[in-house]
Amino acid sequence: MLGLPRHVACVMDGNGRWAAQRSLPRTAGHKAAETAVIDVIEAAYAAGIPWLSLFAFSTENWRRPDGEVDFLMGLVRRTIRKHALSLHARGIRCRFLGDSDLRIPPDLARDIADLTTLTRDNTRMTLTVAFDHGGRRDIVRAARSLIRNRVPAEQVTEESFAHHLPYPDTPDVDLVIRTSGEHRISNFMLWQVAYAEWTFPQVLWPDFRATHFWECLDSYRERERRFGAVRLPTPTGKG
Ligand code: IPE
Ligand code: IPE
Ligand code: MG
Repeated sequence: MLGLPRHVACVMDGNGRWAAQRSLPRTAGHKAAETAVIDVIEAAYAAGIPWLSLFAFSTENWRRPDGEVDFLMGLVRRTIRKHALSLHARGIRCRFLGDSDLRIPPDLARDIADLTTLTRDNTRMTLTVAFDHGGRRDIVRAARSLIRNRVPAEQVTEESFAHHLPYPDTPDVDLVIRTSGEHRISNFMLWQVAYAEWTFPQVLWPDFRATHFWECLDSYRERERRFGAVRLPTPTGKG
């Protein structure tokens, strides 16, 4: 039996389908997702999970209609403003993994920077919101950073490479939860999920609650993580 995962990451998927099932616009699904986000943060916090990452917007999500993108930007801003103080009061360090200074509206970029600064010394849990995030982009940027810093080729190792990724102190992901029954990585934290365990609950993200989260933790505990090695049979009897 495994213990608690140290780092859980959620691909919060299925908002559009949740809305379609109710003959509502896709934006209604995004709005309903806030309850799930808060429930999962509370559940992870209560369980004592030190690292929680949430995939909120991908580099590919810019391809969505302008109205949906604008809605998501506004929603993230409202969510930050509404919950900043309670996150801080709980000792949660909030970080945003992605470009918060290029295509994101300036007022949202400011709120992101403010929340990051407000909570940067908190130690109880680290909440990373992957927002305008792309796993491949992070890897390409790490390669550029190594080159800019003239790191000799023979000194490029997995460890030194990882130091050039954003937030290099982030531990590898132990468990990924992707809701809505989709079985894809969708360019999410590619480096960090190399040896993660995955769960694919059918439930659509707006319906995801603490109970679903605990089910995923239970499933994780039953896994056997071998990291490429073999498990030697335990000797039985005295024989
Ligand atoms: C996830 O839900 C939210 C974001 C990607 C921002 P979707 O919007 O992808 O919902 P589906 O997959 O269309 O149901
Ligand atoms: C991945 O979901 C991104 C987020 C959950 C934010 P998508 O719904 O955008 O992924 P694809 O397009 O189905 O791969
Ligand atoms: Mg989707």
